[in-house]
Amino acid sequence: MSAINFRFANSFRNFSSRSFYSKKTIFSLVSAVSATTGAAYTYERYFNSTNGDNGGGKFIPGKKYAAAFLAAIPDKNKDYQEVYNAIAQKLVDQDDYDDGSYGPVLVRLAWHQSGTFRKHPSGPKGCPYSENAGGSFGGTMRYEYEGSNPANNGLDVARKFLEEFKQKYPYISYGDLYTLGGVVSVQELGGPKIPWRAGRKDLTEKDQAPNGRLPDGAKGADHIRELFGPHAMGFNDQEITALIGAHCLGRCHVKNSGFDGPWTFSPTFFTNDFYKLLMDGDWHIREWNGSRQFEDDATKSLMMLPADMAIKTDPKFAKYARKYADDQDLFFKDFTAAFVKLLELGIEFPKNSKTFNFKTLDEQEQ
Ligand code: HEM
Repeated sequence: MSAINFRFANSFRNFSSRSFYSKKTIFSLVSAVSATTGAAYTYERYFNSTNGDNGGGKFIPGKKYAAAFLAAIPDKNKDYQEVYNAIAQKLVDQDDYDDGSYGPVLVRLAWHQSGTFRKHPSGPKGCPYSENAGGSFGGTMRYEYEGSNPANNGLDVARKFLEEFKQKYPYISYGDLYTLGGVVSVQELGGPKIPWRAGRKDLTEKDQAPNGRLPDGAKGADHIRELFGPHAMGFNDQEITALIGAHCLGRCHVKNSGFDGPWTFSPTFFTNDFYKLLMDGDWHIREWNGSRQFEDDATKSLMMLPADMAIKTDPKFAKYARKYADDQDLFFKDFTAAFVKLLELGIEFPKNSKTFNFKTLDEQEQ
């Protein structure tokens, strides 16, 4: 091993002790770089060539070796099931939030990071990867402007929950991490399997999506179609109805949105209960000193937003909500397709990019 490779190997040993890669993997990766480029400091050219981009290599001196090399690791060596497991285990270990799980707020983060996508952006442009500004690609909610969008109130909790995994697995981008957090949560809380792809890249502050693209819970069917429909995110009525079923999870918080309470009796389990309760229950406007929202006649302990109620009163949405109330398998199938589409809005993955079908923690124990 040449002297420069030895330096590489030493810096990677530190990483291996923090459990990124076994020493064996690291040494074989170092060898791979060496064999491919002939000299270790051209590793970046190796990275570019493995990504089908023959852009010129760049020498990055000193400490940056290790970080750059991690970015250069081919996708097949990035263990996203390991990241999945780490997030899932933290969900189990830290059960002191809200109704006993951070899962719901992680699902909301995944959706709000993705739902800013616009097919025909009307706001300021400046997004370098396409004219379709917004979406999960750049992981931009970590910046001040997008993070403090009132529609994103409370999602700092989810971003803080996930931050340690960005530090621990630096090969994951923020967009990948924020979407993966939602995938982990849906699966671990008993929902369907969500196929997921990696490859989003951290963008800069100037790439933040403009405010005003996320739906207002106080509004009705026209507003929902305008924000989700063909000129915005590109969802049809069936997909919109399937997506909003995620309100089986979690609750509204007065301090975040002005609304209050959970939609179901089991807010930490992914089920079709949202549709059952919405369609089969009777609802009245809650009398309280707060935002206009609905309350169930039977127990007065559940809530629906005016936007949720539109799914019951609009016949085109209601047609699908009825089906999902009667058939959880159908809901799971349609939710999966729509949620994958949501998390990938505006992103073109390379043709050979891998789809991950993650095992749940339970499945791995068996
Ligand atoms: C018309 C569309 C939608 C509207 C108006 C809406 C509105 C809201 C509001 C007002 C909250 C309460 C936030 C808080 O006070 O903390 C909320 C929470 C939530 N939303 Fe939605 N939402 C919509 C669609 C979706 C979609 C598409 C998903 C996911 C696919 C989703 C997932 C969630 C989850 C899981 C929570 C609970 C978060 C928690 O417990 O902290 N929502 N939503």
